[in-house]
Amino acid sequence: MTEHKIQFVDLVRQYQSLKPELDAALLRAVGRGDFILGEDMREFEKEFAAFNQVPFCIGVADGTDALHLALLALGIGPGDEVIVPANTFIASVLAISYTGARPVLVDCEPDYSTIDVKAVERAVTPRTKAIMPVHLYGHPADMDPLLQIAREQKLFIIEDTAQAHGATYKGRLCGTMGDLGCFSFYPGKNLGAFGDGGGIVTRSPALAEKALLLRNYGQKVKYAHTLKGFNSRLDTVQAAVLRVKLKHLARWNEQRRAAAARYGQLLAGTKLGLPKVAPWAKPVWHLYVVQSDDRARLQQALDAANISHGIHYPIPVHLQEAYRDLGHGPGSFPVTETLAARILSLPIFPEITEEELQRVAAVCKGA
Ligand SMILES: Cc1ncc(COP(=O)(O)O)c(C=O)c1O
Repeated sequence: MTEHKIQFVDLVRQYQSLKPELDAALLRAVGRGDFILGEDMREFEKEFAAFNQVPFCIGVADGTDALHLALLALGIGPGDEVIVPANTFIASVLAISYTGARPVLVDCEPDYSTIDVKAVERAVTPRTKAIMPVHLYGHPADMDPLLQIAREQKLFIIEDTAQAHGATYKGRLCGTMGDLGCFSFYPGKNLGAFGDGGGIVTRSPALAEKALLLRNYGQKVKYAHTLKGFNSRLDTVQAAVLRVKLKHLARWNEQRRAAAARYGQLLAGTKLGLPKVAPWAKPVWHLYVVQSDDRARLQQALDAANISHGIHYPIPVHLQEAYRDLGHGPGSFPVTETLAARILSLPIFPEITEEELQRVAAVCKGA
């Protein structure tokens, strides 16, 4: 008998666990009919700002737009450079390209797969305007040295927090240490909507104001446009879902931590490289990424056992066709490239059961 499929992220299980709450919230939102910039969106912005202990949150259409509008709010554009890790989801880099600025890729460090601070120092030029650290897999980047570089060189910091809602760095929340923090509420994220969604958080009233204009056609008052803005608003119905889920986020992050700790115990002593946690970090385990000398074999074993898995990410940004214009090639960022060939993401989500964790670990051990 084939055992049940273990999903990579089980969104149906999460919906079932909150069905009455979610159904009621959705019906309430639909019944109000305030679909654009409605009450749930405004309330969610307040609640997500409070969760992050900052004064401002601006709901936008998705995480990519959050990054794009954050960069624009800082005035970044053609002629500018923004330093970003090559080891990230391509959206971090795309957002920089949309502004007309040049993304300057740097390698990641090998222990935590986040941006290499020394490489950042080397990459700064007179054209550099900002650094975009990515808290990849829910593990915080090493922010203090980056904040110091930013202070010394007068650069902005935009945190890509798409994978790290609630993660902390030396007790400080990811997304709140730089000038702006950008979140994705893509369904599979630690806080996920029933479709696309995104948010920008900041302590700066001026940047909040600018982002608010940019997401709504550049208008503060209807039909009076001070900027060439965009239509990039967080949907009210999505915000209704996010308000319900936000109440459970801290618990879900704890459940992810417990699942990661359990993987750590079950996989100890195998040949797999297990994810490390930096002394500064309290990660939220958006992904649980192991390293294997024989990934193809591990993939086959997991497939045969009906267990979903992923690679985040198989082709680094600098080797993508879309970014040939940056002029990089194989060998440009060796740590990122080595990781891309070895990494594999195992299923992790708050509702994953002990039995499922054991099944995954048993297959990994045998592979
Ligand atoms: C690191 C990172 N940055 C940016 C994004 C873009 O977010 P979205 O898919 O909501 O546009 C994502 C997720 O997809 C991501 O993982």
